[in-house]
Amino acid sequence: MAATRIGVTAAAGAYAVLIGDSAIDTLGHELDQAGLGPRRILVSSPRVWKLHGKRFKKVGADRSAVLVDDGERAKTIASVSRVHDALVKANADRATVVIAVGGGVIGDLVGFAAATYLRGLRVVHVPTTLLAQVDSAIGGKTGVNHPLGKNLIGSFHAPSLVVADPTVLGTLPRREFRAGLYEVLKYGVIAEPTLLDRVRTTLPAIFARDAAAVAPLVAASCRIKADVVSADERESGLRRILNFGHTMGHALEAATTYKRFRHGEAVGYGMLAALSLGVARGVTPQSLYDEVVDLITRLGPLPPVSDISTKDALAAIGRDKKVVAGTLHFVAATARGATTTLTDVTAKELKAALKKLGLRA
Ligand SMILES: NC(=O)c1ccc[n+]([C@@H]2O[C@H](COP(=O)([O-])OP(=O)(O)OC[C@H]3O[C@@H](n4cnc5c(N)ncnc54)[C@H](O)[C@@H]3O)[C@@H](O)[C@H]2O)c1
Ligand SMILES: [Zn+2]
Repeated sequence: MAATRIGVTAAAGAYAVLIGDSAIDTLGHELDQAGLGPRRILVSSPRVWKLHGKRFKKVGADRSAVLVDDGERAKTIASVSRVHDALVKANADRATVVIAVGGGVIGDLVGFAAATYLRGLRVVHVPTTLLAQVDSAIGGKTGVNHPLGKNLIGSFHAPSLVVADPTVLGTLPRREFRAGLYEVLKYGVIAEPTLLDRVRTTLPAIFARDAAAVAPLVAASCRIKADVVSADERESGLRRILNFGHTMGHALEAATTYKRFRHGEAVGYGMLAALSLGVARGVTPQSLYDEVVDLITRLGPLPPVSDISTKDALAAIGRDKKVVAGTLHFVAATARGATTTLTDVTAKELKAALKKLGLRA
């Protein structure tokens, strides 16, 4: 498949998202074309670098990659400091370009390190998980966790280029890959119903990581995310639709102290809960709920929720940082590819939806 190029508008300047099954092999050329260099520093994780590092030989970096651990536990200020240390040692200056190669954790923490070094170095994202390719690499949100909460420390720092190459997804553990697919379904529900059809009809090829099946999913998802963040970079309105399924998804993650679910899995549950709340309100068609239940079932088993109490989940929703001035902006689906934001959702409705998922009273 020929590479797809999508433009994103950001306050700090426009950038391109390049999607294609040999996109990494043309990275050096792309960087040259975009004037991103000549000084380049690659940052990755030991695992990702071992698997894919050799593909970055021709990028023209100053040295081999700086390696920091990934995984949610490594998403800390200490890891950001390690990147800063490496930048100091390499005499990085304002002309240096930082290239983050990894999943969402590497992207978020390296993006934050770049945002804060010399008040901002340019950063290029090369996302290597499905979640990072369809979501976290685009939009400029960067940051790390605080011991008392996820993503509490961060800043907006738009990348200068994003290069998503679906061939790297072949080495991704199946569970990580599936976790990204729930976010793809989210884009289908909120904006692009053909994605739902595509997942249903090409699932075996998708699971086989056939680039011909995966690249179109990545491209369609990136296009939606790119359009949304171009219109509303700072999440004052439209960008909220990306939170579909996330209110109750985040609550399940928080209620299990981020240990049980991959983020996408929690979003899978969160979407089911949002759809059932919508059906109960009369804004969501039953047929859409049924369709998404079917798709989520096809993607495979989700971790259990029956031991989580609705009380704990509701308390987590109350603490959600996306609750603005006490108002919950709840995204509900109104049709395949269409949403509305409800600002009057009651605790009773949330509770009923969580119980329907199988949480205990
Ligand atoms: N900035 C945003 O807008 C945004 C949006 C959504 C999520 N996020 C963040 O993204 C993070 C989750 O990202 P994630 O799901 O990519 O997790 P992750 O970065 O922890 O990666 C998951 C695992 O996959 C491994 N891995 C990565 N690429 C691989 C490959 N190609 N082959 C084999 N293994 C590979 C990693 O080593 C890691 O063990 C969360 O911290 C979340 O807050 C940010
Ligand atoms: Zn998400």
